[in-house]
Amino acid sequence: MQIARTIPELRSLLGDGRRSAFVPTMGNLHDGHLALVGRARTLGEVSVASIFVNRLQFLPHEDFDTYPRTWDSDCEKLRAAGCDVLFAPDEKALYPEPQTCKVHPDPLLADTLEGAFRPGFFTGVCTVVMKLFACVQPRFAVFGMKDYQQLMVVRHMVRQFALPIEVVGAPTERAADGLALSSRNGYLGPQERIQARELPDALRAVAQAVREGERDFGAIEARAAAALAARGWQPDYVAIRRRADLQPPAGGEPLVVLAAARLGSTRLIDNLEIDA
Ligand code: PAF
Repeated sequence: MQIARTIPELRSLLGDGRRSAFVPTMGNLHDGHLALVGRARTLGEVSVASIFVNRLQFLPHEDFDTYPRTWDSDCEKLRAAGCDVLFAPDEKALYPEPQTCKVHPDPLLADTLEGAFRPGFFTGVCTVVMKLFACVQPRFAVFGMKDYQQLMVVRHMVRQFALPIEVVGAPTERAADGLALSSRNGYLGPQERIQARELPDALRAVAQAVREGERDFGAIEARAAAALAARGWQPDYVAIRRRADLQPPAGGEPLVVLAAARLGSTRLIDNLEIDA
């Protein structure tokens, strides 16, 4: 695996016209990320991953400073996964001057759910993803469906700017008990880690209620949020939305249920597409 620390270094590694497939990450890699790299390897002639903890997508009270930075083990995992090129700029290399030019995604997609609880989050994500795309110039970009709204926001950005990139969504990797793999799972204490399966369990219960024909979505959402709260979670939202645009359902469209909730001081998100 070749490592580029600066944009010129990256350009010289990728300047030979090979079609690349790109996995952007913030490091602290787990099997979910490695599955994305595996998918990238099937798509491009060269697989590229990035590690960059992007200050722009953290609110002032969030965990930017404490976000786990695990460089050595990340490199080992990427090498073992067969990643060809790792782009790992520091802040000065990616943002040599304050990044005042930003990408503001469609508010309809980006100001709801995660965007409502983390204002400016998707502006930070889109700005760094656009910049990483400009650096890597991939033919394919692989994003996890675990961050369902992020995948949709990025897809929409790519379409609206006519970027010549195919955005590929990869299924969520889960632990044996159903918990979606996430870097933030590492914040959970042992007891919380056991309890954390209640979040995917809640999503499955919502999906089952919809599949069984219950149509008062507000009541289903409220029931799931109350059940989590009763077990000590602090839910931000449990929301049944249209897959196409993450708006509330009007009737008959493919649906997804998305949730975010805090267990102790750890905020987890997850989602489940609801089969008809
Ligand atoms: O999903 C993430 O890890 C981040 O939001 C991303 C896409 C790497 C942008 O910083």
